[in-house]
Amino acid sequence: MSISQLDLRKFVAPEFICGYGALQLAGRYARNFGMKQVLLVTDPGVRAAGWADAVAESLAEADIAFTVFDSVSANPRTRQVMAGMEVYRSEECNGIVVVGGGSPMDCAKGIGVASSNMRDILTFEGVDRVPVSAPPLICIPTTAGSSADVSQFAILTDEGEKRKIAIISKALVPDVSLLDPEPLTTMSRDLTADTGVDALSHAIEAYVSNASSPMTDVHALEAIRLVTSALPAALEEPGDLDLRFSTLLASLHAGLAFSNASVGAAHAMAHSLGGACDLAHGRCNALLLEHVMAANYEAAPDRYDRIGAIFGPGRVTPAEKVAAFRRSLGITETLADVGVREDTIPALARCAYADPCMVTNPRSLACDDIERIYEHAF
Ligand SMILES: [Fe+2]
Repeated sequence: MSISQLDLRKFVAPEFICGYGALQLAGRYARNFGMKQVLLVTDPGVRAAGWADAVAESLAEADIAFTVFDSVSANPRTRQVMAGMEVYRSEECNGIVVVGGGSPMDCAKGIGVASSNMRDILTFEGVDRVPVSAPPLICIPTTAGSSADVSQFAILTDEGEKRKIAIISKALVPDVSLLDPEPLTTMSRDLTADTGVDALSHAIEAYVSNASSPMTDVHALEAIRLVTSALPAALEEPGDLDLRFSTLLASLHAGLAFSNASVGAAHAMAHSLGGACDLAHGRCNALLLEHVMAANYEAAPDRYDRIGAIFGPGRVTPAEKVAAFRRSLGITETLADVGVREDTIPALARCAYADPCMVTNPRSLACDDIERIYEHAF
């Protein structure tokens, strides 16, 4: 890897408000953006936890009409995006507010670009392929991991093909993100751990990305520091707002880093795995990250050593430190344990090889190399 700090880089970030009570600003921001009829995107779990109602209340207080769309699953489907677009158009909406984790947020982003361009969402796959900007979008994350609320990415599952598509465009950067620690308190232990390791994966992959820059490095390293210090404690004290806020900040820093530096092989392979097997994205990353780090190490040893140092002293490799960390969070499985069949490895590797996230991996990997990494995770 030969990165010079003089290489041209851009850095894109939305406006964001962080702190206790940020969720309640949804109505005020919707009004500032001129929203009159809002599509409120969420999912059944977030709705049951009461966070969609809290946002709806804020919209109602600002006299803004809204229609709720909650037909969103984990690993959101492209057909869910198109269904949301139909509701957006039939209700004559002029803005989107989303409250939820990465799945509702990616779905909401898809609904926005499909609606403004009046095209099937699949036609935007790839980098910079969205011609018309999306309607105003306000994000209120309820997990601390995906960073979809600050990123240029949307990852959607094409169910027919059983694969994930990545849409990467400045048009997908939300207009404002309201980062409130309170909605994080209703996450389950597994969701907290999985989404936290997703944030860690974003930070580590952005730091070693061959599109990294001095600006993304600062955010990536701070994200790793915050995840390692706050995530284990947040699992023990799920109602502690200060700890939850630290994990939210970790996710924010990681999001600013990876939105601009992109990610690498762990994400390319996690997308392939999640598309084929419908496994949680964060869990996919957790089961792959250490193996990708080991395979990549020689391409960026100084950077990986710096990452390892944040996890504390010790003579083991950075990959082994990350492995110990995820096990300490209770993520102890292998790919076999979660039901992945070894005979699917060649197809998984081909799909990962074609993923746009692979482009910024510090080491150029052939399909054979990717197969070996999957094998190590069994
Ligand atoms: Fe991710």
